[in-house]
Amino acid sequence: MIKILFVCLGNICRSPMAEYVFKDLVDKENLSDDFYIDSAATSSEEEGNGMHYGTRKKLIEKNINFDNHIARKIKKEDYDKYDFIIGMEESNIRNIKKIIGIDTKNKVYRLLDFSKRPRDIADPWYTGNFDITYDDIYEGCNSLLSYIKNKFDL
Ligand code: 4NP
Repeated sequence: MIKILFVCLGNICRSPMAEYVFKDLVDKENLSDDFYIDSAATSSEEEGNGMHYGTRKKLIEKNINFDNHIARKIKKEDYDKYDFIIGMEESNIRNIKKIIGIDTKNKVYRLLDFSKRPRDIADPWYTGNFDITYDDIYEGCNSLLSYIKNKFDL
């Protein structure tokens, strides 16, 4: 079982979008039993809250299933629990490392570092643009899944 934790600042816009997009991709490839996928925040700002309306709207538009997501903050113990801890932007990576300590097992990555054009995923909470966020997350999730399938021979 490959365990992935997607992480952003608030866990209401980008990381839950990545969680459900990735779940949808593995489901379509009949690989769901090989994965445990979750998401979390680096801040406690939105703890206990549901997904942002813009993220829910985008997932519905793309016919991607989601359940009753509740924002939570990443814990130090998550480092041992997950195989991949995937931030959306460089500042997430810095904040993840402040919480989990030194990444001794090389588990922490930025999502679009798996793509051909490494970059940050802009925060739609500030930009209001969930279209670009979705396209970037879709590209990143596809690239990450290809990487994992290749690495683990799935
Ligand atoms: P997210 O967006 O990190 O993609 O979930 C944000 C959500 C909430 C806040 C910032 C970013 N906030 O400051 O409350």
